[in-house]
Amino acid sequence: MAIIDKIKAKAKADLKHIVLPEGEEVRNVQAAVMIRDQGLAKLTLLGDPAKVKEVAAGADLTDIEIVNPATSDKQALYAATLYDLRKAKGMTEEEAAQKVTDPMYYGIMMVKLGDADGLVSGAIHSTGDMLRPALQIIKSKPGMKTVSSCFLMELKDKSFGDDGVMIFSDCGVIPDPDAEQLANIALGAADSARSLAGMEPRVAMLSFSTKGSAKHDDVTKVQEATRIAHEMDPELELDGELQLDAALVEKVGQLKAPGSKVAGHANTLVFPDLGAGNIGYKLVQRLAHAEAYGPILQGIAKPCNDLSRGCSAEDIVATVAITACQAQA
Ligand code: ACO
Repeated sequence: MAIIDKIKAKAKADLKHIVLPEGEEVRNVQAAVMIRDQGLAKLTLLGDPAKVKEVAAGADLTDIEIVNPATSDKQALYAATLYDLRKAKGMTEEEAAQKVTDPMYYGIMMVKLGDADGLVSGAIHSTGDMLRPALQIIKSKPGMKTVSSCFLMELKDKSFGDDGVMIFSDCGVIPDPDAEQLANIALGAADSARSLAGMEPRVAMLSFSTKGSAKHDDVTKVQEATRIAHEMDPELELDGELQLDAALVEKVGQLKAPGSKVAGHANTLVFPDLGAGNIGYKLVQRLAHAEAYGPILQGIAKPCNDLSRGCSAEDIVATVAITACQAQA
């Protein structure tokens, strides 16, 4: 079974409530109908009900909740809570009241206050416009300092990862992580391997050096991140620094990192920076024709996920199922 079908089956088994702030947008409405029909999540679309129905063009919206942030009776509570959370950062009561009429902020406040289990947005908002309120309001999980992201990859060559399934991280959020952030990325990626793919993570901290074969500040950073990650989670199967071939190919792993439980068998790849991660997942997606699902936020206290502005309704369905599985975890 394809990994996305396993994720959909998992989402169906324990229904979560997901909010779509871009409820007046056509792909979101089409996706909502598919999600309702497939029984993947309970949904709230944010927007003016008249506009949502116009966009639906006659499609049946039964059982899909539509909430208008501009007239909602939760507005006062959300504004007061937002003001409380952000007043130390200079937000005024008037600004908070204004912000919660914006569906993005309203949706984030629903998740923050437990009125929804997760949020999916980004078909019309930029990555930054979606991420910033999520980072400012939802914040990172207890024990984690850094929110980052991963891609769930499904390769045609089933000899890699766990039956072709791998986690690549961070491919979408932190441009130049320091060692502590990189350690947080590794632990977030390990969580993603468990919650999304049901895999026991074997995490490779990637570099252009294996076990001291090269000397450079960038290598030292990955070595330090490996040490911090071991301290944060001594039980986690994690090793570094490893070159990509040492991480993935058994013979190379045995040669370059003898005795390592991860080398040659990694299913979770942690890239040293966003340039490597973003280019790395796209190389595998394009040249190896792999399926790439993401970016999926990890290390965040409650699940919120971004969409590409070029996404299809089916992409939104997949992202909602992924978000629902994260909410279960
Ligand atoms: N983890 C936790 N909190 C964070 C993080 C993080 N990684 N980054 C920022 N924050 C918090 C800050 O602490 C701050 O909180 P505060 O206001 O309570 O003090 C708040 O978020 C805003 O921080 P800023 O530094 O002002 O955030 P910034 O404006 O730099 O935006 C963003 C953060 C949007 C994530 C930025 O880092 C970014 O643009 N990253 C790259 C995204 C990108 O372009 N990715 C590639 C495309 S995606 C793709 O191709 C798959």
